[in-house]
Formats: sequence, structure tokens, C-alpha cells
Amino acid sequence: MPAVSIEKAEFKSRRDRLLAMMEPNSVAIIPAASEVTRSRDTDYPFRQDSDFYYLTGFNEPDAVLVLSTGNVSASTLFCLNKDKQAEIWHGRRIGFEKAKSDYLFDQTCALSELSEQLLDLVNGQQILYYAQGAYPKFDDKIWSLLGTLRSNRSHTAPTAIKDIRGLIHEMRLFKSPAEINVMREACKISAQGHIRAMKFSTPGATEYQLEAELHHHYAMNGARHPAYGTIVGGGDNANILHYTDNCDVLNDGELVLIDSGCELHGYAADITRTFPINGTFSAAQSELYNIVLAAQEAAFAEVKPGGSLSYANKQAMTILTQGLIDLGILQGELSELLNSQACKAFYMHGLGHWLGLDVHDVGDYKQDEKERVFEPGMVLTIEPGLYISHDTKAPEQYKGIGIRIEDNLLVTQHGYENLTASVPKSIHEIEALMQAHHD
Ligand code: GLY
Ligand code: MN
Ligand code: MN
Repeated sequence: MPAVSIEKAEFKSRRDRLLAMMEPNSVAIIPAASEVTRSRDTDYPFRQDSDFYYLTGFNEPDAVLVLSTGNVSASTLFCLNKDKQAEIWHGRRIGFEKAKSDYLFDQTCALSELSEQLLDLVNGQQILYYAQGAYPKFDDKIWSLLGTLRSNRSHTAPTAIKDIRGLIHEMRLFKSPAEINVMREACKISAQGHIRAMKFSTPGATEYQLEAELHHHYAMNGARHPAYGTIVGGGDNANILHYTDNCDVLNDGELVLIDSGCELHGYAADITRTFPINGTFSAAQSELYNIVLAAQEAAFAEVKPGGSLSYANKQAMTILTQGLIDLGILQGELSELLNSQACKAFYMHGLGHWLGLDVHDVGDYKQDEKERVFEPGMVLTIEPGLYISHDTKAPEQYKGIGIRIEDNLLVTQHGYENLTASVPKSIHEIEALMQAHHD
């Protein structure tokens, strides 16, 4: 595994910060993820719940975190009991005794004690923080717990249930130096994977072979899983925004769009590059490509404290719209076409999103009804695109071309740091890399 990691003390300090934001006489219950069946008796690779992971760093299924502001221990972890047979078959469990010291909880209990202990932890508290509906399997446990507390004269149930997610997600939006280091590494591994795929590309190769190049590089560098379904779309497949079939042959003279990033210690990278399968852009491909690149550069200039995603998008849309007019794909006055958002026929998605433990990361995009402004420590993607599918009205030479360019930006004190700048992006850089490799 790469040397970057996040100290257990940081996870503890996140719990302490959350506890300080919770109301007096309250208790928060935050469940971990469970295993998910893939087929019959095999499971998907386990992926921890992002909020639970953010507060614990604990990577076993079915655990439960309880935070209490009352007079009981502040942080309690329930985790799977040690079980020799289960561990021989399915893997090691840390057990509650070791979890307490290793993960810095105030108290830890075996999962088998959960129902009984929760009664004590929740009894007498006024507010229960719980994300109703987010953990359907766990909801029933909560209703049954509240039912028991209400029906027993010697117990008192909370009078309000509040959603804890708003508080956690606001914390997650601002990345700590340790998180930024992990994200830098995730971006670096992903960037190298893209370069490897660019070098491998040649007419007659397949989309799934490029996918394999990326995934091989991720896994060989300790990031065993992609952060989301890798997109490798050759030619017109690039016009399907979430194309993941990745089963076609790559044709000479066409572009391929790759949208892929690895997950490292839970953190996602999310990079898109679009390049010619044979290493050389055609004239029509270059014309469209340079419009998307200019739109991305215009958006980058707005990524700084005080800037906003919607203003950056306005700048990007102005460039895209003017470019489409210049190529004869849109007809009319720039101002009118901007008012009617005409470019949306060829640019159907948003400019970008927060990035972190989830690829489409948490955090409100509005604050006090207003557009949220960028602040140092936020990480986001900027990913304009143009998609001219065969069934759109456009000059023939542009049909079947789909282009997206996506980078991951950290907002800094005075602007941004592009965490994914090392993947070639200008036409000259891409052609130089691919042609050097194929000569
Ligand atoms: N890979 C998903 C996205 O770019 O938003
Ligand atoms: Mn992407
Ligand atoms: Mn993205």
C-alpha cells in the first residue's frame, strides 16, 4: 500500500468535533455497511459506509458507532464478536477488546450486546441523531428500540429524531492535510493509469483492454478498486454519458473517452481524457477538442476562494456556445443562445461536483439559499464536455464525436491546485506521448 494514510487520532478528533456540534442530551447512532450478495453465496467486495468510515477508519461490516453527549461514554463502537470458525472462513476480525485501543474509542462492545446496550445509551436522551431510511436494515432496530423505551415505565425515549448527515457532510466537504495527501496519491495513481491506457491504445484494441490497463495499474499500486464504474467509450459510445459496457473494438480514426479513477483508503479520483485511438487528432476532432479544453481552462480560472461552480459553469458555457456557433453546429446570436442554454443539447451534464470519500461527494451546493462559494480545502471536479451523437443536427464531420475533459482541483488560499495535471491534455501533449510510444 502507498505510505500515505490517516492517523487514528484524526478519526478520533473528527468524532470529538461532531460531538461538540451535537445538542446537549443527545445520542447519535451511525451504522457501518453490511456485506452485499453478488450471486448466491458470494459477496461484492466489501465497501464501508463513507460517513461511518470518516468517523472511525474502521473497515469491518455491521459495526455501529454511538456518540453520546450525555453522561455516558462519548464514543462507543459495537463490532463483530471474535469467532474462530468465522475467521477461518471469512477473515480476521479485530474484536471489541483490541478495537478500543487501536481505534481510540472510549468504549467498545461486542455486536451481540447491541440491543441491550443501546437501551442504556439512548435511555433518557432528548434527541436521537439517526439518518432515517439510509440504512433500511437498521431502521427496524431503531423503531424497536424506541418502542421498548416508550413502553417501559422506567425508561424515557428521545422526543426528537434528527438527521445527523448535515453535520457530518459539512465536515467532509473540507479536506484535512492528511486527506489531501491521500487524494493526491489517488490522483497520481489514476493519472498514471490513464497514461498507461493512452500508450496501449491502437486501432483494433478493445475498450475492455484499455479498462484492464487502468485497473491493472490501480491494483498494482495498492488501490485495488476503481472508485466507480470505469467508462471506456470509443467513437459514438462516448456520447453515452455513463457508458460502462466497454465491450467494443476501437476503430482507426475515432476518439476514445476514458472516465476512470481509483479509490485509495476510501478516497476517489475522477479523471476523464479523450484522445485519438491512433494517436493523431483529425481536423474536426481537434476543433471540437480545443473548444472543450478552452471551456475547462475558463472554468479553472474561477476556482478560487469566493468563486462558485455556477459562475465557473457560466464561463464554460460561454466558450462552448461560441465554439458551437463557430463550427456551424449552433446558429444564432451568442447572447440569445446563452439565454436559451442552447449548448445544453450538446453538453447535458453539470460542470463538476465535490470529490472525496464518494466520487459524487457530499456537501451542500447551496448555502442560505445562495450558491455556495469555494473555500480552501474543498476538492471538486471540473469536467466540461461536448457530445455530438449521430442523431443530432450538425455538420457531418462532427457527428459521432464525444469529448469530456475532467480534472480534480483542490481549492487553495489563492486559487487551486490541479491534482490530476500530470495526464497529458493538450493536443500536442497527447500526440507527443502516443506517437513517441508507437514509433
Ligand atoms: N465519473 C463520474 C463523473 O464524472 O461524474
Ligand atoms: Mn468522471
Ligand atoms: Mn466527475
